[in-house]
Amino acid sequence: MQLAKRPRRLRRHPWIRDLVREHSLSASDLIWPIFVIEGQGRREPVASMPGVERLTVDLAVDAAVEAAALGVRAMALFPVTDPARKDPRGTLALDPENLTCRAARAIKAKAPSIGLIADVALDPYTSHGHDGVLVDGDVHNDETVAILSEMAVVLAKAGFDVVAPSDMMDGRIGAVRDALERAGHNDTLILSYAAKYASAFYGPFREAVGSASALGTADKRTYQMDPANSDEALREVALDIEQGADMVMVKPGMPYLDIVRRVKETFAVPTVAYQVSGEYAMLRAASERGWLSWDKCIVESLLAFKRAGADAVLTYAAVEVARWLRSG
Ligand code: PBG
Repeated sequence: MQLAKRPRRLRRHPWIRDLVREHSLSASDLIWPIFVIEGQGRREPVASMPGVERLTVDLAVDAAVEAAALGVRAMALFPVTDPARKDPRGTLALDPENLTCRAARAIKAKAPSIGLIADVALDPYTSHGHDGVLVDGDVHNDETVAILSEMAVVLAKAGFDVVAPSDMMDGRIGAVRDALERAGHNDTLILSYAAKYASAFYGPFREAVGSASALGTADKRTYQMDPANSDEALREVALDIEQGADMVMVKPGMPYLDIVRRVKETFAVPTVAYQVSGEYAMLRAASERGWLSWDKCIVESLLAFKRAGADAVLTYAAVEVARWLRSG
């Protein structure tokens, strides 16, 4: 052993570890996804995501005020739709009075400093649970894109700062960008779910929003990406940037950190990762059994996103982690 080379010198004391640390996690790296329900003063736990609750709009407003005070810079809203209001075309998506739009207006009124992100996809609204409209049993690309473009304008009008197409149709970013420009919403940001995989890690989310029962045994493999592919993610991201995306997302997160790294290195654009419901559920479940330390593992996992190159991370633990970061 060459004794002069001792990497442990840099790890000996807290002060030197602090000095040479390459990455850090702060509340301003976090985006908080929440589930919104109809009604007043009601919260419903999500069974497969301990610690996560569906909130009525009034409680979502309180939650937004708290998140903003803790330094969380953005929230993503996901509506839970009454099955009786779903139809094959997801008509409710275009209604400016739907739950998502009402929630946005209410949150903007009380917590104007927090960025609001809306998912653009039809799955909360379709009776079959797919992200678009079906023709001959498959999601029809161009018909879906036309509806999503209108949906993006409705969401921008309701006050969303960011629209986030999560549907994986071809050409949707360009179409959404054009529609926003034509409607005068040239400042609305587009966060493209550019590399979104057909992942089994979305299971708890689909339970939380109630799209699991609608979808049944169907899957989304004709539009979401094959988990076996990596170069394809770069092609998807390239297309979305070319078509006008301001930020791109990789999803899921932890099992796809290699994709986060490749995207960030290749394109050097704002890159967001989504720590999805299944990742959250795994860490929670193991810690409930006493097999993992929740606090330490969630923070370590979020730091790993930063190290991989993510500029921001969607995590259901955003507010909890922001609270710890504040108290040191
Ligand atoms: C809907 C959408 C999904 C998620 C975010 N937006 C589910 C899906 O594509 O089926 C998953 C988020 C999560 O699992 O946390 N287009």
